[in-house]
Amino acid sequence: MLSKKVEHTLNEQVRIEAESSQIYLAMASWAENKGLAGVSEFLYDQSDEERTHMLKLIKFINERGGHAIVTELNSPKTEYTSLKELFEALYNHELFVSERINNLVGVTLDEKDYSTHNFLQWYVSEQLEEENLAKTILDKINLIGDDKGGLYLFDNDIKQMTAVSAAASNPGATPTSLI
Ligand code: FEO
Repeated sequence: MLSKKVEHTLNEQVRIEAESSQIYLAMASWAENKGLAGVSEFLYDQSDEERTHMLKLIKFINERGGHAIVTELNSPKTEYTSLKELFEALYNHELFVSERINNLVGVTLDEKDYSTHNFLQWYVSEQLEEENLAKTILDKINLIGDDKGGLYLFDNDIKQMTAVSAAASNPGATPTSLI
């Protein structure tokens, strides 16, 4: 059984993951409108991933006798002035999510809830991966600067990254962008 404090903090995380999904969905739509096919594919994929993070939490809360709460969400930002601004926002958002996960892990320790603590280890390593990926992308964008040719190559590059990460998370499937 979950303590009220753990249940409440897990539910706060449900909302954060749902908002992350919306934020990345809005980013994907912005990029698609700018003709950045690779970037938008990558962001649609990230948005889907955030939704799976949310669902995993919902299932866990309900399985442990709590009640997972689906709430209204804050509206995501829909306009960006540049790709750099967008990926800076994405990176900062992932740092924020990591901080929230760390806080959640701390709550499970305070409450001596070791099975929730164990369940959250998956999120701890996932955050590390997402932070690293966002940082790698941001470094590339900073290298490219305003170079249009570089941007074109980057857009193709990120499409490959999406295909590889989709294949890694679903080993049986053939990534469509590699066909
Ligand atoms: Fe599920 Fe990227 O935080």
